[in-house]
Amino acid sequence: MKLLIMGRPGAGKGTQAVNIKEYYHIPHISTGDMFRAAIKNQTKLGLLAKSYMDQGTLVPDEVTIGIVEERLLEDDCKEGFLLDGFPRTIAQAEALDKFLKSNGIKLDAVLDVNVPAEILIRRMVGRRVCKNCGATFHVEFNAPKVEGICDNCGKPLIQRADDTEETAVNRLSVYDNQTAPLLEFYAKKNILKTVNGDQPLAKVFEDIKVVLGA
Ligand code: AP5
Ligand code: MG
Ligand code: ZN
Repeated sequence: MKLLIMGRPGAGKGTQAVNIKEYYHIPHISTGDMFRAAIKNQTKLGLLAKSYMDQGTLVPDEVTIGIVEERLLEDDCKEGFLLDGFPRTIAQAEALDKFLKSNGIKLDAVLDVNVPAEILIRRMVGRRVCKNCGATFHVEFNAPKVEGICDNCGKPLIQRADDTEETAVNRLSVYDNQTAPLLEFYAKKNILKTVNGDQPLAKVFEDIKVVLGA
């Protein structure tokens, strides 16, 4: 299965990606996670990405496209993959199209997890992530069993640097301006599948399986 998952910041892409990855046995490729790993490792890419992410703006296309293409050429992507948070601009979508064509790869579907912008600030500000294994929680909507501790691995939960209210507002407007036009781009190719992301987590995944014909 070769998939993209799209949706506004905080819509639940990463949360559902964990389910999809397990169900279809495909690697989950999140550009946001790749940038956060680079920041943690203090690489050159990390330093560059941080300056954009802290503002809630996009890392330049040429940098982002390069790291995704390199990742898609790895062996574990041969049978399928789930791209999360990429593409995010028309230029990225066109570059991906070109790359897939030249490698004889066809996307099966583009999932759009649709959630109204009004409720997303609360989702982002209340998000907690595990420093160690990357699991995602929410203080109200998906609380860990013990406050501040990861259910999976017992390590402390932290807040993402870009999950402040101010940055979240900016990320939502960047999405409207630069990413929302991609929905039309994929609708025209007849591979866009929209699911209602404003439902309990398990129900969103049930709906994803239905639209993917599982
Ligand atoms: P990225 O990491 O991709 O962030 P994002 O798109 O802003 O999306 P999020 O990760 O915030 O949300 P999500 O949809 O994954 O939601 P989650 O499942 O965690 O990008 C970060 C930055 O990196 C960008 O701003 C940019 O600077 C840079 N970047 C990344 N990709 C790039 C690219 N291609 N080009 C250029 N720059 C790029 O859920 C959110 C919260 O809600 C959680 O707490 C969760 O528990 C809760 N939740 C989830 N589902 C539900 C539900 N159904 N009901 C209630 N709560 C729920
Ligand atoms: Mg995410
Ligand atoms: Zn953990």
